[in-house]
Amino acid sequence: MNILHQSTEFNSFGIDALTLARPDDWHVHVRDGALLKALLPHTAQQFGRAIIMPNLKPPVTTTEQAAAYRKRILAARPTQGPGTAFEPLMTLYLTDNTSPDEIWRARESGFVHGIKLYPAGTTTNSDAGVTDLRHCAVTLEAMQKTSLPLLVHGEVTDPVVDVFDREEVFIDRVLEPLRRDFPALKVVFEHITTRNAVEYVRHADTSLGMLGATITAHHLLLNRNTMLVGGIKPHYYCLPIFKREVHRAALVEAAISGHPRFFLGTDSAPHLKNFKESSCGCAGCYTALHALELYAQTFDEAGALRRLEGFASFHGPDFYGLPRSIDTVTLERSSWTLPENIDIDGMSVVVFKMSKDLSWKLR
Ligand code: NCD
Ligand code: ZN
Repeated sequence: MNILHQSTEFNSFGIDALTLARPDDWHVHVRDGALLKALLPHTAQQFGRAIIMPNLKPPVTTTEQAAAYRKRILAARPTQGPGTAFEPLMTLYLTDNTSPDEIWRARESGFVHGIKLYPAGTTTNSDAGVTDLRHCAVTLEAMQKTSLPLLVHGEVTDPVVDVFDREEVFIDRVLEPLRRDFPALKVVFEHITTRNAVEYVRHADTSLGMLGATITAHHLLLNRNTMLVGGIKPHYYCLPIFKREVHRAALVEAAISGHPRFFLGTDSAPHLKNFKESSCGCAGCYTALHALELYAQTFDEAGALRRLEGFASFHGPDFYGLPRSIDTVTLERSSWTLPENIDIDGMSVVVFKMSKDLSWKLR
């Protein structure tokens, strides 16, 4: 068997195994209660750390709530085998009323690593989100001083803007003015889905605060045709919504480019099957079970396996100012069939699947 470590140059053809520094997930929804207990081990077995989204019901808006949520996450970690050392990196949900003091408390906690902006009405549990960023000016100033990054769900909610254009419009209307008004603010443009976002991030003005972007595995693998042609597939519905093929291709190009502003964020977002398969289905794809394998497949198909480690394991911690992992994982070339569902106390969560089998498996 040819075993390869990422630090050596290679041609991916004929490589059967790939060892890399243990990756981290820079954007994930692990939910709470029964879902958290049943599903957290999937994330913990794949990743060393993960940025935990705060869009619970009610949302995690204070450091105190984040501390309690962190405890529940730690209690859901596997008790043996891989995943026991998993570290949740907490975030707070920004509202019109988040105070600068709360930002200082978050920074002093040592376990809060970002503040999440959901423009009100954009996505799952975003009703308590920000109605107008002008309400948050003093809080954003505190974020500049503490270097706590703002993690943005980058879509406008203006009803006249087409759902497929909401990310592109967000760049001009919100993101660029925000970065000019707060020139030291660190920003992560979360789960980018368009060529426009790729270009904006790649050419970001370096005189302003640091800018990074996460890219999901599902947006690297599928375009909107897969979701809509031949019948609507509710398990592919997520936000931001899948776009045209040119956008998917631009995302792959960014992910494999080796550019340090692009890093892994699964946006794995489990919903119960009956809420997805409904007349008003929830947005979110469940990829935590097999995220690394999905990313490996994308990089392999693009002939860029040697760039996977930077994207999955180095660019994220470098952006967040955290140490790179000293642990490793090994992926093996091996075809496997995923389960259809994860059963949870008589309910189920459908696993994100494509028409073909996966060609990599975590050892
Ligand atoms: C996420 C969820 O369900 O919490 N859904 C999704 O489609 N990605 C929210 C989000 O990140 O937009
Ligand atoms: Zn998300």
